[in-house]
Amino acid sequence: MKLKPPKGTRDFYPDDMARRRYLHDAWRRVSQRHGFDEVDGPIFESLDLYKIKSGDGIVSELFHFKDRGDRGLAIRPEFTPTLARMVAAQANGLPKPIKWFCTPNLCRAERPQRGRLREFDQWNIDMLGEDGAIADAEVIAVAVDLLRGLGVGPEQVKVKLSHREVVRQVLTSLGVPGDKMNDAFTLLDAKDKLPPEVFSEKAKALGLGDEQVQRFETLCSQTYGVGEIDKLRNSAGIEDALDDLVAIDTALAGFGLSGWCVYDLGIVRGLAYYTGTVFELHVTTGKERALGGGGRYDKLIELFGGPSMPAVGFGMGDVVLTNLLEDENLLPENLTQPKPDAYIIAVTDAGDAALPGVVSSLRFAGLHTRMNYKATRKVGKLLKDAENCGAKFAVILDDDASNGNASVKDLATGDQQSISIEGLANHLQG
Ligand code: HAM
Repeated sequence: MKLKPPKGTRDFYPDDMARRRYLHDAWRRVSQRHGFDEVDGPIFESLDLYKIKSGDGIVSELFHFKDRGDRGLAIRPEFTPTLARMVAAQANGLPKPIKWFCTPNLCRAERPQRGRLREFDQWNIDMLGEDGAIADAEVIAVAVDLLRGLGVGPEQVKVKLSHREVVRQVLTSLGVPGDKMNDAFTLLDAKDKLPPEVFSEKAKALGLGDEQVQRFETLCSQTYGVGEIDKLRNSAGIEDALDDLVAIDTALAGFGLSGWCVYDLGIVRGLAYYTGTVFELHVTTGKERALGGGGRYDKLIELFGGPSMPAVGFGMGDVVLTNLLEDENLLPENLTQPKPDAYIIAVTDAGDAALPGVVSSLRFAGLHTRMNYKATRKVGKLLKDAENCGAKFAVILDDDASNGNASVKDLATGDQQSISIEGLANHLQG
């Protein structure tokens, strides 16, 4: 019987893990550079936590179970509810603004497909306690900086921005009644996955006539650049909510992000907790699912029992990001596990006797040390093993080990010299 990993999960062999580490290191470096502190939470939470506000999209994708006390639990499908719970619990004691990042692995019981798995890593950037447009622009700047650092440019990825309140006002002006607003948002969110005729059919079911359906379609297919926001003002029905977007427009330009961002009112996001600005990062070829997404969730901390506190953030998954970097040849070729400083070879009985002491003294001195486990005494063969594992030095222990000496070969230059075992760590570190 061949045992396979569960559907939609991945095994990470050493080379896969080295690539995973490359992304995690990039996420961490950029987060810290922008002033975010790392946090984490449990990998499972009470089921109710996700039912409070994430919406059906996430709840139907939960892996959930009961513990022996019959309590409903779920493996985390996202980090935002955990973050809201953590902030609500200590809101008054935390210095503001709260700027947190994390890189949890998450599980969603969705159909595995390109860009979507059942277990994935997701980088989260969240800023709480600051309601100005500068916070929205700052979190977007972190996402853009990550991409820039990985070699991705604005011709490859765009940040598509919208504002739920602006969309709501436009939909109201088109005649969508208040009780159908959630359905209208769900329809907008699903637009790209629906054939045009199904979209218009569903739009008519919201109570819209042919002309309004057309205006609805136009609304979600037009995009505007940074600096062009006033063109939206001329569209019917948009009132004060546009002022938020105008402020964000100024902040985005201030952070030098104009080339990366476009406004697209077709973006509303599936998660129910977003209140204002929403955005998604999309690969411009259009062939990938969203690379990341987020927005403002100004009511969530209060809903979780904390004080009223503005919040904005995003999540970016590793799966689409890796697809993008692979397609664009942006993953460095030499991504491997760390290579040893020293590879220790024993070629006589006296060498065998000295081997464990030499290995452990080098490791205790902080050197990455590996050794030969084969019974062979053939130096040439063993030196090949040392080279193959990428070691800097081979340390050969022969009969001279009983006099306290070892032969050290620099595997890059081929130079070889006798060194006292006592001074070995110093020599290799130098
Ligand atoms: P989300 O849109 O559900 O948002 O996920 C954000 C990103 O996580 C997606 O764009 C995608 O890159 C990745 N992702 C989601 N589901 C999968 C999957 N099944 N397989 C692979 N990658 C996936 C959230 O999760 C929000 N909690 C983000 C957030 C943080 N909003 C505010 N702060």
